[in-house]
Amino acid sequence: MSKKIILCFIFLSAFQALSTKNRCDCTLFGGQTECENVPYCSWSNNACGLKNCSNIILERCETFFRCSINPAGTCETTGDCSKYTATTQIDCMFKRGNCAAEATQTNGVYKCKSYTAVTCASQTAENCKNSFENENSFCWLNSQGKCQSYDPNTCSGIPLEICSNLGCDASGSECKAYTCASNLTVNTCILANDGYFGAKTLCKWNTTSQKCEERADITELTQNQCSLLTDGGYYWLDNKCTVCPVEDDTDDTSNAILLSSLLIIHLLVQ
Ligand SMILES: *[C@@H]1O[C@H](CO)[C@@H](O)[C@H](O)[C@H]1NC(C)=O
Ligand SMILES: *[C@@H]1O[C@H](CO)[C@@H](O)[C@H](O)[C@H]1NC(C)=O
Ligand SMILES: *[C@@H]1O[C@H](CO)[C@@H](O)[C@H](O)[C@H]1NC(C)=O
Repeated sequence: MSKKIILCFIFLSAFQALSTKNRCDCTLFGGQTECENVPYCSWSNNACGLKNCSNIILERCETFFRCSINPAGTCETTGDCSKYTATTQIDCMFKRGNCAAEATQTNGVYKCKSYTAVTCASQTAENCKNSFENENSFCWLNSQGKCQSYDPNTCSGIPLEICSNLGCDASGSECKAYTCASNLTVNTCILANDGYFGAKTLCKWNTTSQKCEERADITELTQNQCSLLTDGGYYWLDNKCTVCPVEDDTDDTSNAILLSSLLIIHLLVQ
């Protein structure tokens, strides 16, 4: 097991240097402040664990599928799709868990419902939105009005009308990831996200140029800065800020890179 984890670090640090798609399992945070700096973790009985959904701030409630905001406006453990509503259909799909949505509004909101997997390319325009092929491929109309599959794990290529709903930069003529250089101030120069489900690039304020730039070095971070400035993507191991291993979590979104890293680790371990 420890051999696997070490190999995993080697792979991830070689290929995803100062960017991470991973979240640490809360149990990896060994210090109270290190733990409490991460919005989804909490410290009790001298250990770090997953925070109850009801204690997570609303802005961070829905980004990982485990928790959802219910119609009463509070964060709770994600339940059956049918108990949720959203002001847009895409929010049923990515904020209230992987749900579909009714085609029309009821009392000004869309009722969410569970989805049945489809092949996007064979959907009619009317049936296109609100469908998934699987958790990592959803259907939406492309600019030619055809039903197409899209990957929610990156902002590039996402239709502009739903770009901001996926946590992406919709300020230009096409949907894109935030970069460190995206209009960030000294206080917000921490991370640049490729949407809610994509990679997080670490950023650092350059006091000379007064600009937000990609962070070149992680070794200068203290234990408490390590989890804080990486949004829980790195943790303190052997006195070093270290990228988190792939989380073995069934409700986590997986992607080809993580799967191929597991495959390589598997081959190396054998
Ligand atoms: C989380 O909720 C459970 C059940 O409601 C409770 O027993 C537990 O103490 C709570 N944990 C924290 C860290 O608040
Ligand atoms: C940066 O953000 C501010 C406030 O949102 C906005 O007024 C300004 O136009 C933005 N500048 C650029 C270059 O995007
Ligand atoms: C900060 O910006 C200056 C001026 O653009 C540049 O010369 C320097 O290399 C930058 N510092 C770092 C650490 O990147």
